[in-house]
Amino acid sequence: MTASSTTVDLGTLVSLCKRRGFIFQSSEIYGGLASTWDYGPLGVELKNNVKNTWWKAMVWGRSDMVGLDAAILMHTNVWKASGHAERFNDPLVECKECNSRFRADELDDQICSNCGGELSEPREFNQMLQTHLGPVQDDTSLTYLRPETAQGIFVNFGNVLTATRRKLPFGIAQIGKSFRNEITTGSFTFRTREFEIMELEFFVRPGEDDEWHERWVKDCMAWYTDLGMSAERLQLRVHDPKELAHYAKATTDIEYQYPWGWGEMQGIANRTDYDLKAHSEASGESLTFFDDDTKEHITPYVIEPSAGVDRTVLAFLADAYTEEETISAKGKSETRVLLKLHPELAPIKVAILPLSRNEKLAPLAKEIHHAVQSSGVMGGLVQYDDAQSIGRRYRRQDEVGTPLCVTVDFDSLDDDAVTIRDRDTMAQDRVKIDDLVDELKKRLNG
Ligand code: GAP
Repeated sequence: MTASSTTVDLGTLVSLCKRRGFIFQSSEIYGGLASTWDYGPLGVELKNNVKNTWWKAMVWGRSDMVGLDAAILMHTNVWKASGHAERFNDPLVECKECNSRFRADELDDQICSNCGGELSEPREFNQMLQTHLGPVQDDTSLTYLRPETAQGIFVNFGNVLTATRRKLPFGIAQIGKSFRNEITTGSFTFRTREFEIMELEFFVRPGEDDEWHERWVKDCMAWYTDLGMSAERLQLRVHDPKELAHYAKATTDIEYQYPWGWGEMQGIANRTDYDLKAHSEASGESLTFFDDDTKEHITPYVIEPSAGVDRTVLAFLADAYTEEETISAKGKSETRVLLKLHPELAPIKVAILPLSRNEKLAPLAKEIHHAVQSSGVMGGLVQYDDAQSIGRRYRRQDEVGTPLCVTVDFDSLDDDAVTIRDRDTMAQDRVKIDDLVDELKKRLNG
């Protein structure tokens, strides 16, 4: 048997995601809405596991962090003060022949890649998605769907400080939907107009910002590798001063080697005191921290690790995809497809499989399913599957990344034991039913 960490092509991954219920095209029965995706029964589990694992590490696992869940809709003055209304722009060019639109900064050639036609001069295109609140659609009811979750944190800085009495340095974390009217979309869930961000604003004393920036880059990188992402498919990219966002003094991206090449998965920016000062000035509310030692009000600097949930899910899927040459029960050589997902991320934690649908096996298998399910092994799905041959069911569970299968066979009726099968090694061990839950917990929690 040979195992390889396979470089999957995007088409194979998209097809697996649809077939096995990870990700579907949005509004598919109406022809689909371009670059918009729905997470299916296994996709929602994987995505929730990514978000929960991040929250556990970034909020519960530290003593200098609190959480927040701010509204998507915010006062329009937020976006004026933050600079997004005026400066959250991409340079748009249009083909004079076929009217195709492109981002000028992403073009290799100065001609249309669709028809070879001449391109217009670039013009600034604002990425904020607009909507109107209330029954009248005019300038007074205009508002935006947030393009980042960060501003909800900045405008609540004073509230959180008063409510929690935190001292510097401390952070506020948030996970939520964001919207951008991207000129170009594509590469599956990589660039979409609706997406989710896991981000945190970490408030530090001015002068300590560079050091904290470095620490956060390291901590963020460790989060991916601790969850099994291949270190050789991760790299850091420091932003050139010319490409820095309007609020940033420095930014380092964590890039993943996606099936089509390197792409940004997370940005870690030093936002300085730009946002707190901008909102203080625009709102008239002081957004400062009172330093008991120096008896001074200071405006903290902010380090902002900001990761795309959808890009992280896509990277974990691509990274876990493995093809392995193996020999079937009938002695034939075959390719086994498996997702080597970390148990914390796997959508299904354990599958309970009676050897066959024989009525003698079902009561015991169902009893075991109930016992494992109610034990809450790792707080995830426990699936009961009795359709088709046992070999096929193993393959099905491998393909969706289920770390452990439990097989109930005819011997189980006499010896009160079952077989645990490991996804990665395919090793099978006999375990007493009385010890099963403890053994599963031990294996899943490493
Ligand atoms: N608050 C900072 C901020 O929003 P960003 O680099 O613009 O920073 C953060 O976005 C992360 O969101 C990116 O690193 C990327 O993973 C993800 N992201 C950005 N635009 C996206 C899009 N159109 N589709 C999917 N994910 C996107």
